[in-house]
Amino acid sequence: MPKYRLNLSIPKNSLFKNRMYNFKFLLLFITAMGSFTSSFSQLNEGPPVFHGASVIGYRPHTPVSIYFPITGQRPIDIKVTGLPQDWQLNQDGSVSGMAGDIGSYNFTVSAKNETGQTAQEYHIEIGDKLCLTPPLGWNSWNVFTKNISEKMIMEIADAMVNSGMRDLGYQYINLDDFWHAPMRDAQGAPLPDPAKFPNGIKHLADYVHSKGLKLGIYSCAGKMTCGEQFGGYGYEEIDAKTYAAWGIDLLKYDYCYAPWSKKAALARYATMGNALKNSGRSIVFSVCEWGLRKPWKWAESTTGSYWRTTPDIFDVWQFPALAQYSVMSILKKTEKLEKYASPGAWNDMDMLLVGNYGKGKATSANGMFKGLTDTEYQSHMSLWAMLNSPLLASSDLRNMNEATKKILMNPTLLSINQDKLGKQAHRIEKKKGIRVYLKPLQDGVAIAMLNTKNNTQEFAFTEMNNFDLNENYTIIDVWNGNKYSSLKNTKFTLAPHETIVLKLIRTNE
Ligand code: GAL
Repeated sequence: MPKYRLNLSIPKNSLFKNRMYNFKFLLLFITAMGSFTSSFSQLNEGPPVFHGASVIGYRPHTPVSIYFPITGQRPIDIKVTGLPQDWQLNQDGSVSGMAGDIGSYNFTVSAKNETGQTAQEYHIEIGDKLCLTPPLGWNSWNVFTKNISEKMIMEIADAMVNSGMRDLGYQYINLDDFWHAPMRDAQGAPLPDPAKFPNGIKHLADYVHSKGLKLGIYSCAGKMTCGEQFGGYGYEEIDAKTYAAWGIDLLKYDYCYAPWSKKAALARYATMGNALKNSGRSIVFSVCEWGLRKPWKWAESTTGSYWRTTPDIFDVWQFPALAQYSVMSILKKTEKLEKYASPGAWNDMDMLLVGNYGKGKATSANGMFKGLTDTEYQSHMSLWAMLNSPLLASSDLRNMNEATKKILMNPTLLSINQDKLGKQAHRIEKKKGIRVYLKPLQDGVAIAMLNTKNNTQEFAFTEMNNFDLNENYTIIDVWNGNKYSSLKNTKFTLAPHETIVLKLIRTNE
């Protein structure tokens, strides 16, 4: 088994080298503890804190609209310096304008309230890549399947705002299958179901945008969608133009009623991808052929920002049949695909099940699966975040219990997923039912320990050969807020199916 050596690159004369408890270390440690505590406090209290993506991609000459997710006591005063020419800061604190030519543009946003102030640098990359960090949002399929409507989607958007999810970086509200009218219009343009969406999709998109969020839609590379609605095949141009006119920000493109071969799949995804690219709007392209043709090798070439690695997820921790993918089987498959993930090109492990408790119409397999425990949902969230999957919740956001909110809205875990290095976690250990993953971060590393066994287990890093961890980090347990001064001297106790996630923040001398 390859051994993993963590390179902490501490200078030889480091004050910290082998001297953990010196005074300077303690001071830094206490400072970091302070900033961590503030991220765990109530979302509308305390000084402003930025969340979500700070590296954002747009296509050249397409409209830009950026809402800055910030927690902290309201009101918050926002100022922006260095905005590209002709872009503007709006009343609601968002920035809008038109993307220029290919290139990098940086600006700084400062946020101030009665209790403090902070600033965040934003990097805008105008080019071919969108989703430079994994998309955060919600999708209608798992729980609601065909029962979607304008009213319900607006309520979900409201819930995303009112729960605080938006201010932690969640952005996309994605309509899945069954938004369609029985037929296209006489010119071949797509139409929504008039009973479900009486005011049309543009009206819905305007509403969603007015909340600082983005709207996604669903279609299929076959003549029909998987739910037998009209598909996109042969209508790519008119669909992309219509989506752009509606103000759509993301398209999930499925693969039912389409030829089996990889060649055909690649060609069909490329046709739709190109149509989106030429639509005049930056529309994220989500490739959903269930990982059957190794899309990690070709989906990016069709302009895909992410691709499903498996068939549909089911609300079950572990299940032997491959047609029904469990949390564990998706994890095992996707951890092998690490080298294909990079900013703007992600392995999609399918929607989050957190809070579904077996109630998802699609994911319970007609009541066969009763759902996960909260400990398992927490593991699922931790591992999807570590492996840089898109994080698309699918529960009814209007009725989340406290456990679901806690799991979906952990600022530190979300920051690990949104880290701008965009490195998918690497599995560094698999022993006695414990799997350990390590994800390099811009300011340190994140480590996750998963107990796959049905009994409580203890784990210590001293059990790992060649795991060299110097002590130049502050170490924080993402889920319970515990701080550790050393990994070497700590034994971690893991409940059955529990995942402990540690964020190790590099300390500067
Ligand atoms: C499946 C897809 C699901 C959902 C469904 C809609 O193929 O994997 O996520 O979109 O189709 O019919």
